[in-house]
Amino acid sequence: MERFVIPHKHEITKEDRRRLNGHGSLILWFTGLPSSGKSTLANELEKELIQDGHRTYILDGDNIRMGLCKDLGFSAEDREENIRRIGEVSKLFMDAGVIVLSAFVSPYRSDRDAVRELVEEGEFVEVFVDCSVEQCEHRDVKGLYKKAREGVIKGFTGIDDPYEEPLNPEIVVNTEKFSIDQCKEQILNYLIEREIVNVR
Ligand code: ADX
Repeated sequence: MERFVIPHKHEITKEDRRRLNGHGSLILWFTGLPSSGKSTLANELEKELIQDGHRTYILDGDNIRMGLCKDLGFSAEDREENIRRIGEVSKLFMDAGVIVLSAFVSPYRSDRDAVRELVEEGEFVEVFVDCSVEQCEHRDVKGLYKKAREGVIKGFTGIDDPYEEPLNPEIVVNTEKFSIDQCKEQILNYLIEREIVNVR
């Protein structure tokens, strides 16, 4: 198909929007096994950031799969498309000057790296939410590990589908050894060091 799409260059830039907001913007990409604590952590972090006057937005698997990605399942191809779409949406929000918290299993390295490639250096921050599969299965927040063990769900990440750990994540938080509060502080300190957020 021949395509004639010529992007329009708008005059207001992401730097203008960041200046207006009074803080930086980037994508915090939470990746990890189901029940590792991605959404819980994103939620706690967002509350604190908002309280301190930052503009944030959470994108998370279970919600996005109700709308934007409701046509997708959990095959490798569908997960790839899921992450591609969310990567593009994350980029738009970041461009709007928002601190984006994207919480997705995103089990494949190549899919996560493709999102990293979409944005400038330093704008994609990979947060590996580290937790053993035993502990995740023990938590089983949504009862899906049990269903996977029973064979009701096939291709469940951690049980009969792979999870590729990040090789060089900017941040590793271990939700098994540390509390959610401690993990949140770890990410906040990173954001303060990078001068993305305002020091409390
Ligand atoms: S991803 O692999 O494409 O990144 P995503 O984060 O959007 O996954 O969705 C994961 C959520 O969907 C899990 O938290 C879980 O609640 C649910 N889910 C349902 N089936 C599966 C499956 N086969 N593998 C992993 N998660 C699943």
